Amino acid sequence: MLKSTLIRAAEAGAAVMQHYFQGSFTISNKEGINNLVTEADHASEKAIFEVIRRDYPDHFILSEEAGEIVTDSNFKWIVDPIDGTVNFAHGLPLCCVSIGVEQDGEMILGAVYNPFIGEFFFAQKGYGSTLNDKKIAVSNESSVLKSCLVTGFPYSYLDQPNSPLDVFSRLIRSGVPVRRLGSAAMDLCWVAAGRFDGFYEHKLQAWDSAAGVLIVEEAGGRVSDFTGGRYSPYQPHIIATNGKIHDELVAVVNDKHPGL
Ligand code: IPD
Ligand code: CA
Ligand code: CA
Repeated sequence: MLKSTLIRAAEAGAAVMQHYFQGSFTISNKEGINNLVTEADHASEKAIFEVIRRDYPDHFILSEEAGEIVTDSNFKWIVDPIDGTVNFAHGLPLCCVSIGVEQDGEMILGAVYNPFIGEFFFAQKGYGSTLNDKKIAVSNESSVLKSCLVTGFPYSYLDQPNSPLDVFSRLIRSGVPVRRLGSAAMDLCWVAAGRFDGFYEHKLQAWDSAAGVLIVEEAGGRVSDFTGGRYSPYQPHIIATNGKIHDELVAVVNDKHPGL
C-alpha cells in the first residue's frame, strides 16, 4: 500500500508539472537572487499531499515549500514537488518530482519521476532499484580520472576552503568531465543508472536527496558525507558514487588526492 501511494503521489505531482510546463505560471524568488519558486511547485506539492493524506492522514510530511507537517507517526514523507525548479522555469526538461519515505529514521522507499523524458526511478530498501520497472545498476569505473561526474552549485555561493568552484576546478583542470544538470535528484538517479560514475554537492536539503540516495544504494552504489562517513539527509554534504571511485572522490573533495 505504501508503495502504491508513493507511485500515485509522484504521478500526481508529475501531472501538475506537465500541465504547467512551457505554459504561463507565476514565478517568485526565495532567498538568493535565482532561488525560484513557481506556481507549479505549490500546485505539485498540493497534489502530492492530497494523495498521501488520503491514504495516510497521520503520517509526518517534510516538504520543500510547505515545511514540516509534524505528527507523532514513525513514517515521514520527504517531498520535493519539483527538483530542478530553475530548469522548469526556463522550459528545460531536466526536472522531476522526488519523494522518499522514512520509517523510524531509515529511508525505505524512494521515487523520482521526470515525466518529460519518461523516466520513473524507484527503490525499496532491500529490493534493488528500477528505472521504468527494469533493474538498474551503478557503473564499473574504478578511477576518478576516467570517470564522468556530475555536481551542483548552491544558490548562495559558499566561499570557503574546498568550495564548490575549488573542487570543480581541480577536476576540470585534470581533464575530468563534470556535468551540471541542475537537479540533484536526477544527478543521483543517473549515478544509480550507471550514466555517471559519481556525484558530489556542497549544500543539499533532505528533500533533494532523500529518494535519490536510496536509489543509488539499492543500485549497488555508495553514499557518504564529505568525510566518507555515514550519510544523513539532514546535513548538507553528499558524495554518491558507484562505490569503486568513492574513496578517491572523497580525497579530491577534501584536496587530499595526490594527483588531482
Ligand atoms: C536544487 C537542485 C539543484 C541543486 C540545488 C537544489 P530545487 O533544487 O536540486 O541541482 O544544485 O542545491 O536546491 O531548488 O530545484 O528544488
Ligand atoms: Ca530540490
Ligand atoms: Ca524544489
